[in-house]
Amino acid sequence: MAGERILLVGRGHLGKFLRERLRVDGDLHWIAELAELDEGSLKRMHPSAVVNTAGKTDLRWCEDHPAETFRSNASAPLELYRRIKAACGPEVPFVHLSSGCVWDGPYRADGKPFGPDDPPAPACFYSWTKAAGDAMLLREAPGGALVILRPRQVYSPLKAERNTLSKLARYPQLIDTPNSMTSAETIAKTIERVLAPGGEAARGRILCVYERGVTSPFEVGTFLAQAGLRKKPERISKADLDQTLKPKRVDTVLSDPCFEALVDPPAAQDELKRVIAAYAKA
Ligand SMILES: NC(=O)c1ccc[n+]([C@@H]2O[C@H](COP(=O)([O-])OP(=O)(O)OC[C@H]3O[C@@H](n4cnc5c(N)ncnc54)[C@H](OP(=O)(O)O)[C@@H]3O)[C@@H](O)[C@H]2O)c1
Repeated sequence: MAGERILLVGRGHLGKFLRERLRVDGDLHWIAELAELDEGSLKRMHPSAVVNTAGKTDLRWCEDHPAETFRSNASAPLELYRRIKAACGPEVPFVHLSSGCVWDGPYRADGKPFGPDDPPAPACFYSWTKAAGDAMLLREAPGGALVILRPRQVYSPLKAERNTLSKLARYPQLIDTPNSMTSAETIAKTIERVLAPGGEAARGRILCVYERGVTSPFEVGTFLAQAGLRKKPERISKADLDQTLKPKRVDTVLSDPCFEALVDPPAAQDELKRVIAAYAKA
């Protein structure tokens, strides 16, 4: 992405990974009140694309702080989009990180994976605000430059609190329910393809982002144990986990032919083993 002027928003797990991985010429971080992103600074920077990774992501915290969660996950992305549009024009690609957690499965009622056109069915406040943020952005910017990415259980080699590998290395008991997972590398490739010449066809829509096939928290825990990063996990049933966890854990399997044609993602198990090996060395 040499020569691009990417405005990368968010200093969390994914923001840090993308900052390093996308090798952007210039980046700018979003502070809580958006004060750094006034019209003057946006006009001076004139980004060629915007990638928004900011959001409140701790499910328990989100239940306890609904106003701030709604502001960060729904109102703030819309305000950011409006500021970019006003300062730089409606044609600047705006890539927004949503979540596959807007669906509570693991599968649809007909037994198929969830796809980008399925209506959201949020099971907790965090998921509800992510779905609301997407709906507000899509209403404001139908078609055109907006791209909404819905990954699931994001992981990378970084030793970060929100890295799914860090979470699954901590819990002694893990469920064995089918789930999609998303490597931060797959998100980076998706962003590159969407912003590259020819990527216009994938803009103006929602893309589910994931590796091929399914895995489970128990399988990931087993891979982490094989890499010496935790003890061998014990299995816990979903029903037993739901008794103890508030809000309850969401399981989701994703499918999106448009995304697969654009990115040709690796198999879930291959990518997990590659990234866990890098995580172990970090
Ligand atoms: N992690 C996953 O498994 C996963 C899965 C699917 C989708 N996603 C989505 O991917 C995006 C990135 O996730 P992540 O894993 O990088 O989460 P993260 O590590 O929690 O990073 C999010 C960052 O956004 C910041 N932030 C929150 N509200 C903000 C606001 N109003 N203004 C500026 N910054 C704000 C957070 O700061 P504070 O910590 O100070 O709040 C945090 O640094 C999120 O939108 C998330 O919903 C994540």
